[in-house]
Amino acid sequence: MIVLGLESSCDETAAAVVVDGSLRSSIVVGQMDHALYGGVVPEVASRLHERHIVPVVDRALAAAGISSRDLTGIAVTYGPGLAGALVVGLNFAKGLAQSLDLPIIGVDHMEGHLWANFLQGLPTTDSYPYLCLLVSGGHTHLWQVNGVGQYALLGRSLDDAAGEAFDKGARLLGLGYPGGPAIEAAARGGDPQSVDFPRPMKGSKKCDFSFSGLKTSLYHYLQGLGESDRRERRRHIAAAYQEAIVDSLLDRLRQGLRLTGLSRICIAGGVSANARLRSRLDAWAESENLALSYPPLEFCTDNAAMIAMAGYVRLRAGDRSCLDLEVNPNLSLADRAPLDPGRTRLGESVAQPWPSRPRGGRASRQGHAQG
Ligand code: KG4
Ligand code: ZN
Repeated sequence: MIVLGLESSCDETAAAVVVDGSLRSSIVVGQMDHALYGGVVPEVASRLHERHIVPVVDRALAAAGISSRDLTGIAVTYGPGLAGALVVGLNFAKGLAQSLDLPIIGVDHMEGHLWANFLQGLPTTDSYPYLCLLVSGGHTHLWQVNGVGQYALLGRSLDDAAGEAFDKGARLLGLGYPGGPAIEAAARGGDPQSVDFPRPMKGSKKCDFSFSGLKTSLYHYLQGLGESDRRERRRHIAAAYQEAIVDSLLDRLRQGLRLTGLSRICIAGGVSANARLRSRLDAWAESENLALSYPPLEFCTDNAAMIAMAGYVRLRAGDRSCLDLEVNPNLSLADRAPLDPGRTRLGESVAQPWPSRPRGGRASRQGHAQG
């Protein structure tokens, strides 16, 4: 089965090819134009997706050494995300599917993030159930994953997402966009204990998250400092702010494990690229004997490899979308009907019970560029 994956939900135009559950190529073209405005401008994003989608798909097919006629299915993100941006990928997918008479499968972007953990080996039935912490720019969710396409939501952010806390915090600190990598870089060498920021929801019996109070607390803290103090103390403030986000995520995960009795955890989404989060998780997993997984760095943020893999798994299970599929900017995994467990066994040569943790480095078949 040869699946082309397409992703255009926000500001990355991406295409990837998965052959029988193995990643063959992945091309991501970002849109630096948004950095000028300090955030993604939807209209600009749509126009750049239109410009990039054909060459990005051509490059992904060429890198995989195939032509479009070799494809057996197309997977495409249809939500959540920016409506105008999603439409570009979905319409392209529909046109290609119709012209080549191929099945099409709509993929939830957040489900795609989860599959970035399994690009080097698909899960087996022994992998389930596990907890998945999805931390992106727009969502912070804690899921119990019981099988392919079987998700139970344990908790979610009541206000800002963790990535949003990084992005808004970076803006307050006068750092660049996107805020996560900017805060991570600014925090290097800073003292994470230098400011006692709140740990939202810490100790709560539920698994929900909250980050808007933390951002407000940063705002008030900065208001109390003069311009030169702000500049001089910036790395310490960034380190303390980052630590508060990481502490809060770990506390909520701990509560998820307590409530479910599980000991396997997947982290996914843009924030899972954060080095401080990873090192704290590593230490915790080591001391508590937890099975922990996060995606290789280049697949934490938006890409189409994860969409192609999620689509491959669904197509294999007999799941299909109709050509009248529409984008859904507010799509939620919780609303998607569970797949029939009898049809989702993946026991094949590329399967493994639990992914080994990546050790940095870039996949040679991955292409990244800025548009
Ligand atoms: O998953 P993603 O690429 O896009 C969405 O689906 O939203 O996530 C983007 C988010 C942004 O908020 C960005 O600031 C954050 O992920 N992010 C990071 C890091 N890299 C990206 N946050 C913390 N540390 C990072 N290294
Ligand atoms: Zn994403």
